[in-house]
Amino acid sequence: MEPREAASQELLKMQLGSGDDDWTPTPHGRLLAHSLAGRNLVADREVLELGAGVGNHTILLVRQGAKRVVATEITKSRLDTTRRNVERNCSRTGHVEYRVADWLQTDGRFDVIVANPPFAQSGKRNRRYFIDSLILDAHKRLREGGLLVFVQSSMADLAKTRIRLAENGYEPEVLESTQGPFRDYYLADETFMQEISSVENGFELRDGVYYETLCVIAARLVPWSPPATAHLPP
Ligand SMILES: C[S@@+](CC[C@H](N)C(=O)[O-])C[C@H]1O[C@@H](n2cnc3c(N)ncnc32)[C@H](O)[C@@H]1O
Repeated sequence: MEPREAASQELLKMQLGSGDDDWTPTPHGRLLAHSLAGRNLVADREVLELGAGVGNHTILLVRQGAKRVVATEITKSRLDTTRRNVERNCSRTGHVEYRVADWLQTDGRFDVIVANPPFAQSGKRNRRYFIDSLILDAHKRLREGGLLVFVQSSMADLAKTRIRLAENGYEPEVLESTQGPFRDYYLADETFMQEISSVENGFELRDGVYYETLCVIAARLVPWSPPATAHLPP
């Protein structure tokens, strides 16, 4: 194994506890973790992590020397799991703040936002809601030149994401991608299968097996000022 990959693997060693209600890491979360571990985007930076789950990325962000991490979850119980796992795996956790918050509805400005947005089970009429919400509103939580880092499946339409990021003032880069077979619950959800069938390059079907492509996207928010005549909140 190359030294760089060995260092990544070391960073990714962690003991994660979880309860029945917690979201345990899937290939999406694992790819995002691998991608973050392979390059340090957060040292001395202030980071907002949305939907921290079992803390698999929070632990990494702390180990990589983030100056401050705000980790959010949708319920207190899930956030308690995040906190327990961070405390179990990191010796220095004083600069981690835990907030129950509905996605971007939280305070502050950050250098980096990290997320594995719900998609297949987003529970929203627009299944892309959490991805689109990031693209439209993360600028309210990012500092100028800040970085939005998230993982997305081809089923959620990578071309649409690229276009919308550019429209909203981001310069996106794909850090890493991988292909993997569908999980059973995709195939069991008829509406889901119908929706993704109209996404161009949304999946591949080979020898009777469906595959999705996962991409980790890092999008830099290009500095921009609205004209003086723009309608802005006071
Ligand atoms: C796809 S999981 C990712 C979990 C973890 N970050 C990972 O990658 O393994 C999405 C996480 O977002 C949380 N979540 C769902 N809706 C949310 C919301 N409106 N605001 C904040 N977090 C939310 C879920 O509880 C879940 O832990």
